[in-house]
Amino acid sequence: MSRKLLLRGGRLVDPASGHDGAADVLVDHGVIAEVDAGVRAAGARVVDCGGLVVCPGFVDLHVHLREPGREDAETIESGSRAAALGGYTAVCPMPNTDPVADNAGVVEMVAARGREVGLVDVFPVGAVTLGQRGAELAELGAMARSAAAVDCFSDDGHPIREARLLRLALEYARAFDAVIADHAEDSSLTDGAQMHEGEVSAMLGLRGWPAAAEEMVVARDLLLAELTGGRLHLCHLSSGGSVELVRAAKARGVRVTAEAAPHHFTLTDEEARSFDPVFKVNPPLREKADVEAVRQGLADGTVDAVATDHAPHAREDKEVEWAAAPPGMLGLETALGLVLSELVEPGWLRLSQALERLTAGPARCRRVPGHGGPIEPGAPANLTAFDPAARWAVDAAALASRARNTPYHGRQLSGRVVHVLLRGSFTVRDGGATR
Ligand code: DOR
Ligand code: ZN
Repeated sequence: MSRKLLLRGGRLVDPASGHDGAADVLVDHGVIAEVDAGVRAAGARVVDCGGLVVCPGFVDLHVHLREPGREDAETIESGSRAAALGGYTAVCPMPNTDPVADNAGVVEMVAARGREVGLVDVFPVGAVTLGQRGAELAELGAMARSAAAVDCFSDDGHPIREARLLRLALEYARAFDAVIADHAEDSSLTDGAQMHEGEVSAMLGLRGWPAAAEEMVVARDLLLAELTGGRLHLCHLSSGGSVELVRAAKARGVRVTAEAAPHHFTLTDEEARSFDPVFKVNPPLREKADVEAVRQGLADGTVDAVATDHAPHAREDKEVEWAAAPPGMLGLETALGLVLSELVEPGWLRLSQALERLTAGPARCRRVPGHGGPIEPGAPANLTAFDPAARWAVDAAALASRARNTPYHGRQLSGRVVHVLLRGSFTVRDGGATR
């Protein structure tokens, strides 16, 4: 088989270099060899990309792969396959596994399993505190120096409650230029909360989690980032107030990056009226004004990245009454479709901006070497080709994820992933996973 692959006839959108226009990409031994209009390469296998957008493989800063511990809900293998089919070449699994990824052994195991599966590059996130219990710092240095070379730490699922510990973590992480990613939630205001606090929660009689519970922690975190000079990343911003706080902090030079999840720019708390627990998520779906503020934040770059917070749950756990269901929803296989249908088509973001938030944007938030572009000679061929015009209907039963908890079942979306290359090898070809 030829070691050369020519992606021919596509529209190359590479946000890292600013390129947007017709160009062919020649891949040789897994590495990009040439990028130009009308590349000629004798002996190369030609992949017809006519009508397709060719771009860097997507990077997801925030997924839950459930391994180790809940392999019935997802595994590194099933989650990697879902990611590849979604157009991703890199994912960052959160440490809220069982055992928690709070030491070198677990993060190394997760990274090694990711390599073995080989469908996406897996960059584990380490826990900030031991067991994510919020009492004492985990050995960030040992995880950073481990074979997994962890450079991002989070207690995701929980906030870092104690300001003192967040301060220590931000200071300590500076030594290895790592980032602390916080799940902003003041638990004293969200104890027992079931959904966003507002008119709908009052009507339904469900205990609410006010936007202020997120915003006050965002404000605290920004102040501590400023105090320490450490790198802060804010997970899944859901409220307009949070977006505004980050915008102001960035304007005064605070080292902060932020992400938003597709559900927070596509769904509102109105969905809770169905009492279908598939819509229960943390932080909760908020109001239309919040959805629009998150979209605006993505548009002006206040929000650096779309991150799915892909949170698979086993059917027997999730398909129970609302109050008993765990929060979380699937995201990897619907992210591109939602970005195109809900952000690009209605005119919130241009295609190149939207793809930036899936590639170069997340690659700015932490180290994901070889991912996010630019697409240039010498770079590893981590590439996605998708058909922006193809319409498809989400079918929960057809997802590669082990879990079924997508809130988008039946929804029509634009944008179908056709090919994905990881270091020049197909992980997805003609819309199907290669393994
Ligand atoms: O909805 C959520 N699900 N939010 C989180 O912070 C954790 C996640 C999970 O692990 O299921
Ligand atoms: Zn979270």
